[in-house]
Amino acid sequence: MDANSRTPTDGDRSLIAVASEAALVRGAFASVLINLDDHTQHERDWHALHEDERTLASAMIPERRVAFAAGRHALRAALAHIDPTQGPPTLLSSSRGAPRLPPGFSGSISHKRTRAVAVAADLRGTTEERAIGIDLEHRPTEADTARPSIAKRVLTPYERDALLAHDALVHREKTLIYFALKEAVYKSIDPFVQRYVHFTEVELDLHDNGEATVRLLLPDENVANIAVHAHWRMDDAWIVAIASSTLSDRDGLVTRDAAP
Ligand SMILES: CC(C)(COP(=O)(O)OP(=O)(O)OC[C@H]1O[C@@H](n2cnc3c(N)ncnc32)[C@H](O)[C@@H]1OP(=O)(O)O)[C@@H](O)C(=O)NCCC(=O)NCCS
Repeated sequence: MDANSRTPTDGDRSLIAVASEAALVRGAFASVLINLDDHTQHERDWHALHEDERTLASAMIPERRVAFAAGRHALRAALAHIDPTQGPPTLLSSSRGAPRLPPGFSGSISHKRTRAVAVAADLRGTTEERAIGIDLEHRPTEADTARPSIAKRVLTPYERDALLAHDALVHREKTLIYFALKEAVYKSIDPFVQRYVHFTEVELDLHDNGEATVRLLLPDENVANIAVHAHWRMDDAWIVAIASSTLSDRDGLVTRDAAP
């Protein structure tokens, strides 16, 4: 990373602690705080991007650029943690919007206005097709419970039943955990299914240890070929969800486009 760019994990260790103790197989997590008022920092982050990344982001509105830059810094930091001997890679975007990683790695980014997180996985030396996804959400407060809920859009009837007994704040927080997990799952299966996946096409069971059982309900794909592991962690302010998907048989994956 450029000497002028900041330390990606500055400011807050707690989220890092909870996420990095998570079961990341040959992977790394990194987090970057975004100070909305620090325009000097934004300038430095922008100029620390690779030229091609700046070109990619040049049409974005300013706030989006700041998030883009912070996400790139976080992902580079995660990659450097896995292999400090590699130079900082240029991280452009795929045609579907996912970050493009150097060969032998998978990686994912999520950002909110004040924080970006990234996760990277080392696939070198394996033949497995694996992809990783991450999502970051704010934990809800009591005041948030007055706002319209996303539960109907995000949860399957089975998942809604699982939340029935909870009070408003717990219900809202669990709904956000489902949401974060599903976004992370989406990012991790997108390279394989390459289509929009509706929230009700993924069903979860949440376990007390922060792990989730993931069932893919995509009707047209042979999803038995995709195994998904997902977990979430929380600190005082944030929910972070990470999913890792492995494709066992690409030839057996019938996509909607390919179906007769
Ligand atoms: C693509 C999507 C997941 C991004 O989530 P978001 O909450 O808007 O934003 P986040 O900050 O969490 O993530 C943004 C990052 O996602 C990554 N991303 C975008 N499209 C992606 C894709 N198709 N696959 C993997 N990662 C993707 C990018 O790195 C992006 O940041 P960048 O543009 O700065 O590089 C979301 O907009 C979306 O389309 N969701 C609908 C599908 C879904 O989640 N279904 C859930 C059921 S499985």
